[in-house]
Amino acid sequence: MSAESFEFTGDFLKEAQRNIAKYPQGRQQSAVLTLLFLAQEQRHDQGHYCDEAVMRTISEMLDMPYIRVMEVASFFTQINLEPVGEFHIQLCGTTPCMLRGAEDIKSAIESKLGIHAGQTTPDKKFTLTEVECLGACCNAPMVQINDDYFEDLTPDIMTGLIEKLAKGEAVTPGPQNGRSGSEPEGGPKTLQTGPAPQIRS
Ligand code: FES
Repeated sequence: MSAESFEFTGDFLKEAQRNIAKYPQGRQQSAVLTLLFLAQEQRHDQGHYCDEAVMRTISEMLDMPYIRVMEVASFFTQINLEPVGEFHIQLCGTTPCMLRGAEDIKSAIESKLGIHAGQTTPDKKFTLTEVECLGACCNAPMVQINDDYFEDLTPDIMTGLIEKLAKGEAVTPGPQNGRSGSEPEGGPKTLQTGPAPQIRS
């Protein structure tokens, strides 16, 4: 599925140029990560990934060695080096999520989809990737699906989300156990009593 060439087009080209221009002369290489993101977005319907053609184009645009672009692209899991499915499930497996049941969430995904981490379903609908902390540890365990976080998961909830996505039904991002944000389960437990807040005029 590797494309032979890649060029930024339309709004993606404008945004790439705008980002390159943000940096002082000689420092344009600082835009490399943004350009990788933009290229991936432009290829949203073609696997949402950056291959050699993308990285060669970016290396020419930024006048930096191809290998340096490759180093950045391969360091961040946010940059896909292989095509991903319509729904890219990124499962956090770092310690807080692991202690809160990430392994069970992973098993639920694997058994529902019949794939393992790093694989895509034959119909190209779902890809499962295991990643490091996504910064939502207060709501562990969690996954990111495309651009949204789904938190406070159980294996049953995770399976239900996959079923809805497979049927094209809407799903609601955020905590899946009813709490708001990362407040304590059952609602706020502190600062319930005390003097009324002073309102400044
Ligand atoms: S450990 Fe999973 S979000 Fe931080």
